[in-house]
This record gives sequence, structure tokens and C-alpha cells, in this order.
Amino acid sequence: MASTHAARVLVASNRGPVSYGVREDGSLHAKRGGGGLVSGLSAIGPDADALWVCAALGDGDREAVRRGVAEPGVRMLDIPADVHADAYNGIANSVLWFVHHMLYQTPLEPVFDVEFRRQWASYQAYNRAFAEALAEEAAEGAAVMIQDYHLALAPRMLRQLRPDLRIGHFSHTPWAPPDYFRLLPDDIAAELLGGILGADRAAFLTRRWADAFTDCCHAVLGPGIPSGTRIGVHGLGADADFLRKRSHEPDVAERMAALRAEIGEGRKTIVRVDRTELSKNIVRGLLAYRQLLDDHPEWRERVVHVAFAYPSRQDLAVYRDYTAEVARLADEINSRYGTPGWTPVLLNLKDDFARSLAAYRLADVALVNPIRDGMNLVAKEVPVVSDEGCALVLSREAGAYEELGEDAITVNPYDVVGTADALQQALTMPFGERAERTKRLAAAATALPPAQWFLDQLGALDG
Ligand code: F6P
Repeated sequence: MASTHAARVLVASNRGPVSYGVREDGSLHAKRGGGGLVSGLSAIGPDADALWVCAALGDGDREAVRRGVAEPGVRMLDIPADVHADAYNGIANSVLWFVHHMLYQTPLEPVFDVEFRRQWASYQAYNRAFAEALAEEAAEGAAVMIQDYHLALAPRMLRQLRPDLRIGHFSHTPWAPPDYFRLLPDDIAAELLGGILGADRAAFLTRRWADAFTDCCHAVLGPGIPSGTRIGVHGLGADADFLRKRSHEPDVAERMAALRAEIGEGRKTIVRVDRTELSKNIVRGLLAYRQLLDDHPEWRERVVHVAFAYPSRQDLAVYRDYTAEVARLADEINSRYGTPGWTPVLLNLKDDFARSLAAYRLADVALVNPIRDGMNLVAKEVPVVSDEGCALVLSREAGAYEELGEDAITVNPYDVVGTADALQQALTMPFGERAERTKRLAAAATALPPAQWFLDQLGALDG
């Protein structure tokens, strides 16, 4: 396929760096997102001929594509809404996410039936749309960085269209071990692995996920990585400069004052901030907090659990049900233990970044207890932003455990009693020790800032 454009560095992901809303008068407004890839791409500079290829997600995005509205350096693909829904909600979020996070309740699910095969065809078509757009936009020999489980087939498809390109694939999730990965039908498992092996390099957030991928290749495809694809590990770190500056802006100070008033004078805080994903384990976090209040009644009136659980993937019933269960349990704890002057759980479901930073700054304890997580940046951000040091209770199943495990209080995320004990240990950690640990946590958390994380991957594609 001939190249009509000349991008030298391309990023491909389902969700792009910008989204559009439609105002009442019909005009469009653009909203820019953040994250590691955004900082990474800005680090290569405006003259780098970079292009980000992403999917149009909502009505605003589709309208923007139809009107020819685009941000410089971004190409949105208007994939038919039903194909996108099958690929994103049906396959990526309801199958691949569940496999890699090992979330199925296996007596009843998964069921790989005819409907699954129909959705799989949409997932193939969606990946093909990306591969074709990338093939069209990339200059001779360009570097293409394909992101995540949404786009596992695109590397091979792109390789077939454009053998000249240098292709990388990066997984932001965990990777499932072979026994779990092989829940997938054999042909699908092989197609997914073969898709990623179309890349020159397949990279992961931790050694553990990289090894699991290699193990799956051996189990499903036979010994050796057939295509000679190189495997890499790049542990995305927190962006210290950005976070320290942003967390001292006036809107964060305002929210700190408001939070302090809600929490009440002299009380300790256990803070958690998550997108409400099924893997985040918010429910067991609340159960552990309840256990703490039972085991240590001396904490009643003296501690508050600040839980920010921001909406995610609300198109899926299982996510809506999970969010409802979080709210129900928080209410139950508040009505059972609360007093006129003390609300034990402050749950907030409305996304507010400035308020998250405010909570990070004042937290005594951060609770990060996912069932399984690719990295978990909250665990890395809190120590960077914390005003006076914060004890980190961290799941051993989070990718961040590899780098932060030594100075965190680590937990088995399924063990509610163990997590309650860890909260007690964290709340009673001597102030000096807490500050020392926080310093070391912040140093480990910022070892690989987003810009360097991206540049390393780009550099490694040349190797
Ligand atoms: O939680 C991490 C993650 O799964 C990333 O791997 C991915 O980039 C992102 O979430 C996708 O989220 P969404 O479905 O909201 O686009």
C-alpha cells in the first residue's frame, strides 16, 4: 500500500488524546486528556511528524470526523458504531479485560458461543481499520506504537500491509498466565498472540506480565517466540514535575479546605482514588475498613475513609452493578457506625482531578488493593504529592508492587482480615518512619517519568 502521508512516529490507541462534545447551539468543543502517552508524544517535540490514530468514541467525536474537525497530529477513525461497540464493549472490555485480570466467575462464564464469534469478526474489522489507517499515514520506515488489548491484532495486519515499518505493541494491563489465557478458544488465543507477534517489539509494564506473555506463546504456539519479536519491559512512572506543580494550584488548595471540613478536625484519613473498574477491589477495601472499625473500635470517630470511585465503562451492566454495590456498602457502613458528627466513609463518584490531588496531599494512608492491575499509578502518585508522608497499603497483585513493595505494607487483595490488619499497621506507623518510607516510595515511583518511558520504547524499536 502506498503511503500518502509522512508521519514518522505514530501512536495508535482506542481512546485518543482529545474528545469532542456538542454544545446546545450545535458547535463542537474539544477536551484534551492527559496520561503517559500524551506526555511522551509531547517530549518528542512539535517537529517530529507525529500522528496519533484513535477511534471516534462518542457522538461528538463522530460529528467532528464528519465535519472534518481535527486537532493537529490526531486522526480519529469513524468506525461504524455497531462494529466499535462489539469490538470495544463486547470483546476488549468483556473478554480480553476479563481474561487478563482473571475476573470471570468460571462456573457460568465465559461462554464462547456464536454471538462471541460474531463480535470477534467486529474486533477483527476494527483492528483492520486501524492497520489500514496506519499504513496509509506512515512514512517509509516510520515507528508505530500500538497500544493495548483493543489492538492486539493490528501489529500483524500492519506488518502485512507495510513490511518497512518498525512496529511496537505495548500492553497497559497485566497479561494472563497460560492456564487462564487458555480459557479462550484455541484459534482465538493463537490469533491474539500471533497478532502481537507481528510487532518487532512487544512491551509490558512489568517483568511478570512480560513473562506471562512469553509463557502463553510457548503454551499456545509451541517453544520459542516464532517471529523473533523482542520482548521489553518499561515500568511507567509518575510525572513528578507535573504533579508537584499541579497539586499546588489554587483549585487544589480550595478542595483541600473543603475536604478537611468534611473529614472533621483531628481525624486520620484512609484515601483511595480509582476508576471504578472491576479489578480495583473497592468493595473488599470497604469490607476491610468495616473490619478495622470492628476490631479497633478506638478508631471510631477518629478516622475517615475517603473513597473516590470515578465512573468507568458504564455501558456495561456489570460495571453499573459494581458501582451500585460500592455505594450500597458505603451507605451501610455509614448508617451502622456513623454518628451525628462523623461520617465514616466519604464516597464520591464524580471525577475531579483537583480533588484527587487534594486527597493525595492530606492522606495518612493510601489504600491501593487491586485484584490485579497492570501498574496502578495512584500508588506512585500519592507518595510524590503527599504533604507530610503517607503510609501505602499496596496489593501484591499490582504491577507497582515490583517497584514499591519494599516500602509499602503489602496485602493479598482477597484477604479482608489481612487488609484490615494492614490498615491498622498503616494508621499506627510512627510519623518519622512514614515520612522516610514516603521519600523512598517517591524516588522509586518517579524512576521512569512518562516522557522517558516513551522515548525508551521509541529508542528500543531501533535496536
Ligand atoms: O485501566 C487501564 C486501562 O485498561 C488501560 O489499559 C487502557 O488504556 C484504559 O484502561 C482503557 O480505558 P477505557 O476503556 O476507559 O478507554
